[in-house]
Amino acid sequence: RCMAIVKEFEEKCGTPEGKLKQIADAMTVEMHAGLASEGGSKLKMLISYVDNLPTGDEEGVFYALDLGGTNFRVLRVQLGGKEGGIVHQEFAEASIPPELMSGTSEALFDYIAEKLANFVDEEEQIFHDLASGRQRELGFTFSFPVMQTSINSGNLIRWTKGFSIDDTVGQDVVGELTKALKRKGVEMRVAALVNDTIGTLAGGRYTSNDVALAVILGTGTNAAYVERAQAIPKWHGPLPKSGEMVINMEWGNFRSSHLPLTEYDHTLDIESLNPGEQIFEKLTSGMYLGEILRRVLLKLAEEASFFGDEVPAKLKIPFVLRTPEMSAIHQDTSSDLRVVDEKLKTILEISNTSLKTRRVVVELCNIVATRGARLAAAGILGVLKKMGRDTTNESGKKTVIAMDGGLYEHYTEYRKCLENTVSELLGDENASSIFFEHSNDGSGIGAALLAASNSLYVNEKS
Ligand code: BG6
Ligand code: GLC
Repeated sequence: RCMAIVKEFEEKCGTPEGKLKQIADAMTVEMHAGLASEGGSKLKMLISYVDNLPTGDEEGVFYALDLGGTNFRVLRVQLGGKEGGIVHQEFAEASIPPELMSGTSEALFDYIAEKLANFVDEEEQIFHDLASGRQRELGFTFSFPVMQTSINSGNLIRWTKGFSIDDTVGQDVVGELTKALKRKGVEMRVAALVNDTIGTLAGGRYTSNDVALAVILGTGTNAAYVERAQAIPKWHGPLPKSGEMVINMEWGNFRSSHLPLTEYDHTLDIESLNPGEQIFEKLTSGMYLGEILRRVLLKLAEEASFFGDEVPAKLKIPFVLRTPEMSAIHQDTSSDLRVVDEKLKTILEISNTSLKTRRVVVELCNIVATRGARLAAAGILGVLKKMGRDTTNESGKKTVIAMDGGLYEHYTEYRKCLENTVSELLGDENASSIFFEHSNDGSGIGAALLAASNSLYVNEKS
């Protein structure tokens, strides 16, 4: 019975090359539809109002807030203009208390404003001196779907990734932040509101001109890329001088009949805070991989006595098995699978497992991670196709993909599988012009850079 359940799961999770290509094509089709009209697709293809990526000329001290990943961050970045680069960079990090993720808008924004207030209060005199006579400015990385109304305003469409604060939905998040900053006595202007993918793209472009696409694989997943403004029928604003516009795809909400969904995915979705939404995200990203594994293990325990006569109580707790732990289990190289044994004991209070049982657990991790990574690779192929960068062109132009997020950074097997699958799908020759680059905290720096290029003082010589 046990092996039958595992085998069935493995079959349902299958991602042969042909299927991945269909998924990539579906992604390209949805991209067109999302660009054509508002509501034209599950892919929102949000207009970021970023029509110029960093050039290297940015200068001055700027702040950034980064909300929406595992950790919340406050940053200060000193930009030295041409030749100068990043002169100084400093950050403070905190986790968002879980109760704030489903409380009130005011409580959440007060919390982040307070962290920013402390950060500014504690900074060195030199930054106070630099700030004198001008208003401090901030890039706000807010990693949720937002309908922007300008570079520094936009309304929250909906929460994702376990946040659920009703009174923020539909509100201008810059307005919410600005009010909280006032309440906390922080004098700061929000100069740019950006998604983490946009920040990562901007940060990536600062270091390499070939960066054309950014992908986040962390708690959630998403991608942003540079589109020709003329290829965006739903954009009715003036044509940007650059002729380009950065698009936040919100690909986490992609869905297609080709996606390999199992019974575990269906129940995970139904019982989630956002049923019917973020289906691609629920198959590929860090918030969910461990939870899928837990659900399969629970079925094995209930229907095939996988862990003995009793069903381990801990296994019934949603989200108890987190993806970093799954990654440690998956990547256990010891001959007796010691790490698996230890994790099963400490997280699920399951002891005395046989080597055979532990092997099955590792195999399940492999199935879940491989499916996620291969689907993410298909997503990347879809975007490359839309950009016309899936085949080597005569100029031999390089395409660099700026990558970030805990899943990409820490889950080596996942990352390797993703990168290999992109090569497999493109073919060796085409793949030779595609490069992945980990853009560590690029989104915070990117937000500061975009604050700089949208600063009130941008035309003044400092
Ligand atoms: C961080 C970025 O490095 O990665 C954030 O600074 C981003 O902007 C985050 O949201 C995503 O990864 P995770 O794993 O923290 O969700
Ligand atoms: C979720 C958010 C999206 C973000 C992604 C990665 O999908 O909706 O805005 O970019 O997570 O953090």
